Amino acid sequence: MDTLKFSKFTEDEIKAVLKSRMNEHRFEHSLNVAERAVFLAEKYGADPEKARFAGLIHDCCKGIPAKEQLEIIKNAGTELDEDTLASPALWHSIAGAVYAEHEFGVTDEDVLNAVRYHTSGRGNMSILEKVVYMADLTSAERNYPDAEYTRNLTDKNLDEGIAYGVRWIAGDLEKRGLPKGKDTEALLKEYENIIITE
Ligand SMILES: [Fe+2]
Ligand SMILES: [Fe+2]
Repeated sequence: MDTLKFSKFTEDEIKAVLKSRMNEHRFEHSLNVAERAVFLAEKYGADPEKARFAGLIHDCCKGIPAKEQLEIIKNAGTELDEDTLASPALWHSIAGAVYAEHEFGVTDEDVLNAVRYHTSGRGNMSILEKVVYMADLTSAERNYPDAEYTRNLTDKNLDEGIAYGVRWIAGDLEKRGLPKGKDTEALLKEYENIIITE
């Protein structure tokens, strides 16, 4: 991948930065998401190079303390709504998009949005956003109880994979008493009529 097409760093430089910001497991996850994003992009019509790059950097702020994630968001002048403030799991994605723009020099809006919405999803996602969202949920090392099923479903039909994934996430948030947030709500609503056939 020519990461210089999307950022001011070479692939080796990007990987070195990522390694310095996350543990070995998360770095492996990032490589797996990049690989899976290429596969899904080729299958469903997103730009494979953008998918690989967005997949590689999507968790660039996950390994740093939550307080620092919030600081990155605040310093960029981004206001978080009440639900997002109450959902620390979302912060790394928003901070990640800011970091990608400011530190990696990423200017491609679609790549930045794919990073920003990889956890919450949102309504009207681009194909690239969908691909990165599902690559993250179904990367090779994922082994939650439904991972294999979700992976196979996504391989057959991207929208059914998303419908299953977002319903699973919404159910999990409900169980944990956490707000879904407006973006996940919008995605749930958009996909409410998608019937999962398998
Ligand atoms: Fe993430
Ligand atoms: Fe991830």
